[in-house]
Amino acid sequence: MRETPWWHDAVVYEIYVRSFADSTGDGVGDLAGVRSRLPYLADLGVDAIWLTPFYRSPMADGGYDVADYRDVDPLFGTLDEFDDLVADAHGQGLRLMVDIVPNHSSAAHPWFQKALNAPESSPERDRYIFRPSPPGRPDTEPNNWLSVFGGPAWTRLPDGDWYLHLFAPQQPDFNWNNPEVREDFLTTLRFWLDRGVDGFRIDVAMGLHKAEGLPDTALGFGARSPIWSRPEVHQVFREWRAVLDSYPGDRAAVGEVWTDSAEDLALYVRSDELHQSFNFAWLEAPWSAGAFREVIETTLAAMRAPTWVLSNHDVVRQATRYGEGAADPGAGLARACAALLAMLALPGSAYLYQGEELGLTEVKNLPSEVRQDPVYFRTKGAMPGRDGCRVPLPWSGTAPPFGFGSGGSWLPQPPEWAGLTMERQMTDPGSSLSFYRRALAARRSLRGTLPDTITWLDAPAGALVFSRDPLVCAVNCGTDPVRLPPHERVLISSAPLDGGMLPPDTGAWLLRDRPLTPRPRSA
Ligand code: GLC
Repeated sequence: MRETPWWHDAVVYEIYVRSFADSTGDGVGDLAGVRSRLPYLADLGVDAIWLTPFYRSPMADGGYDVADYRDVDPLFGTLDEFDDLVADAHGQGLRLMVDIVPNHSSAAHPWFQKALNAPESSPERDRYIFRPSPPGRPDTEPNNWLSVFGGPAWTRLPDGDWYLHLFAPQQPDFNWNNPEVREDFLTTLRFWLDRGVDGFRIDVAMGLHKAEGLPDTALGFGARSPIWSRPEVHQVFREWRAVLDSYPGDRAAVGEVWTDSAEDLALYVRSDELHQSFNFAWLEAPWSAGAFREVIETTLAAMRAPTWVLSNHDVVRQATRYGEGAADPGAGLARACAALLAMLALPGSAYLYQGEELGLTEVKNLPSEVRQDPVYFRTKGAMPGRDGCRVPLPWSGTAPPFGFGSGGSWLPQPPEWAGLTMERQMTDPGSSLSFYRRALAARRSLRGTLPDTITWLDAPAGALVFSRDPLVCAVNCGTDPVRLPPHERVLISSAPLDGGMLPPDTGAWLLRDRPLTPRPRSA
């Protein structure tokens, strides 16, 4: 029998490096900070960590504006510190993935600086997407494309040429038809693979190629858009897969792919392309058994090795999302814990975002002078942006910066987080952290024993009930308690059960009495 590769059912923990742990006292998290907290992560029970960009960057978009893809920004440490982190992570049984940002560089990247000083239609400008105004309309953008961060997607140079940036003006889009661009990213992949990384998270993977002629569009993320999910992008990932496969040890890649269908998403996940792509439909589903069931069905129909994700550094934290509109202020966190059980019971891998295990909610009241997300500034505050889910973690103590570092934190932490520190929750069996630790341990205890398919069981209205025999997962998204399906014992529940009843906003794992037959898996 073929062994299951590690990523197939891994739990991967996203570390937003700036906000995880600060070792230098400058208020910004760094690689040495991550290294100092590896024992916490190993103990939490995750299999791998994904580090957001720590490369040289002017930080116009928190590091997703990369000026040198093959060096560490001094804000985050050094290459030697990165090597130490990889060695320590591996020593503690954790795989390590890094973020790669291929759609755009920073405007401070030497290639873009050269392009700025080069004439129109020069080889230097061909590495990016420069265009003149349309004929006869001298002051008009080359097309009607808008930046994801608000405003037009074009910025004009003094010589009249415009350059494309699907994100901030400090993030010019690469021209992926240019062979030098393709080649340089292969060099970057090898650079980090040689340093021992286990894989990559690919930023804006569906953006790289744009339709010939850059036609106007009003389309969203669908497959017919001239901006997103162009067919040519798949050839790029075939080349990347060949590089990954040339290394030993199951190196893997997960794509950040926003699409409007599971079928489009599945196109990225092929044996000669990416290993995985984020399943954002799961994160976008409202608190509803019907919505969850639909996402699960369409995902499993489209993909053999799916992923499940409830939050990341770009979205409102789930304990806040699920609480919106609920009468009980604690409902958001209760639902988030129940949703975690559903996610961890499904076949495939699960991605967690730092702080969700502490039950952190979105920090909504950040004053504008501390905010840093370009989304907030480009939309003049109309969109709050993503700073609220990026507030540095509370580790210990009773006052900010709660053990994050010795010199404050780049975004202020709410004083109420005194009750949510890792240190405090660790000794409280009723805490969100203790629940996450138990849930991850329960998943591990079942690893390799469950089928890759699920079976839907009869469920009372408002409830989601499925089985991966002998595991049964039940989540009550309704307003009344529901009877638990038949079971031998309860493995874990997200809140106390009421006899044979599952209360609202609660999830549970039940075991049928049946011997577990372990299947082999790779180390
Ligand atoms: C991705 C990142 C996001 C970033 C954007 C531009 O969506 O997750 O944080 O702002 O790409 O690089």
